[in-house]
Amino acid sequence: MRETYVAALDQGTTSTRCLLFDHQGRLVSLAQQQHRQYFPRPGWVEHDAEEIWKIVCRIIPQALDDVDARPEQVVGLGVTNQRETTVVWDHRSGKPVGRAIVWQDTRTAGMLDDIACDLSAEEIYARTGLPLVSYFSGPKLRWLFDAEPGVAERAARGELLIGTMDSWLVWNLTGGVDGGLHATDVTNASRTMLMDIRSLEWDDELLDCLRVPRAALPEIRPSMTTFGTTCAPVPGIPVTAVIGDQQASLFGQTAFDPGDAKCTYGTGAFLLLNTGTELVRSRHGLISTVAYQEDGEPPVYAVEGAVAIAGALVEWCRESLGLIRSPAEIETLALSVEDNGGCYVVPAFSGLYAPHWESDAQGLVVGLTSYVTKGHLARAVLEATALQTREVVAAMNADADVPLRSLAVDGGMTANNLLMQTLADILDVPVVRPMVAETVSRGAAYAAGLVAGYWADRAVLRSYWHKAAEWQPRTTPQERDRQVRAWDDAVQLAIGWGH
Ligand code: G3P
Repeated sequence: MRETYVAALDQGTTSTRCLLFDHQGRLVSLAQQQHRQYFPRPGWVEHDAEEIWKIVCRIIPQALDDVDARPEQVVGLGVTNQRETTVVWDHRSGKPVGRAIVWQDTRTAGMLDDIACDLSAEEIYARTGLPLVSYFSGPKLRWLFDAEPGVAERAARGELLIGTMDSWLVWNLTGGVDGGLHATDVTNASRTMLMDIRSLEWDDELLDCLRVPRAALPEIRPSMTTFGTTCAPVPGIPVTAVIGDQQASLFGQTAFDPGDAKCTYGTGAFLLLNTGTELVRSRHGLISTVAYQEDGEPPVYAVEGAVAIAGALVEWCRESLGLIRSPAEIETLALSVEDNGGCYVVPAFSGLYAPHWESDAQGLVVGLTSYVTKGHLARAVLEATALQTREVVAAMNADADVPLRSLAVDGGMTANNLLMQTLADILDVPVVRPMVAETVSRGAAYAAGLVAGYWADRAVLRSYWHKAAEWQPRTTPQERDRQVRAWDDAVQLAIGWGH
């Protein structure tokens, strides 16, 4: 008998990957390709959805070919994706209307005050769990409809379809112009600012506010259910899960119980705390979001502290400044000095997300003197990620009765040992990295595999989780306080600079 697999399709901010996992939860195949980032104006970030679909058409067959697998050996496919990034496309031609507007894009920052319409920002937060900021899909759609004459009308007539990346991919995977399924899942829908997070349905008043025609929206399904069967690029694979990437990594960390948390360090940093079936409202600037939903079950919620820029700052140092040649070099450079030399970097490239939600804030470097070298700057870059994490942990602790006792981490940046130590120092709790890498893809595969009956239950998946490394706090309270105070001052400057 031939081996069977579960596949994950992970469409991230910078690249798209297809991974196959075997019955023991081992990663057996991985195909990956980056796509182009478009920055047409300051604050604007776009992706070409067609380019991304072409990449999917290459990497799925490649992942199968690498282990000589036939489609019938893949029992389920889980789709996971960068959230909020919004695509509008013509269902007859299959062509997107312009480029996808990426989650990081801040073009809508200036119009937010005008779109509150009949609903106040407080009411929008009550219905969606989200603050009224440029991060989410709804304002992006409103911008598109205002900026491109005729698009809203065509969408209302049913000629155009709206979706986040998951919907675009599921539609293409399941037939595209020949009757592809236009659907999304509750986790992705919870990031659009169009869904009532309590009823899990599109909300007519929010749709009115953002001028989004209901006819063009996808059907909302649970994360773990059937989303049809693939027609392309490899026919015959059942799509059995769709889940936003940060929720997927929570699942991949097997953080199934209320109180379980994780932080993923990719382009940004996203700390999610499982709150079970209870919808918890933060009083300190965190988002309420859907963590996942099994078919026929109530949704599981999470509170989330989203930080827009983490790994993206390291990438900016490489690509835009030429400070380093590879992301790994940031650690070597930072280790060439003892400390940050008084220098702080606030990477408010997309404004500031949690807990500030200041769409207008602008990035800055402070504390420059002739003493500061590249090494100090590199340290400040890593500390920016740790200090931003501290802000969301502090908000989470202020909301909860019990403070976070340790932090489970994952994502590409966790290979950086200096960052992990800095994180433990600044948070003053142990930081734990699991053996299993690829938690986003793994979570999507776990969800898809459970639906397909590939794994009996979650206990099996938990048995695949092993600790790889742990960092204990080493710094003094005085040093920590000094850094936090300097950081807080720098953040206030970044906010003030944007106003
Ligand atoms: O909300 C944005 C987030 O989903 C992006 O994640 O890993 O693609 O940068 P990532």
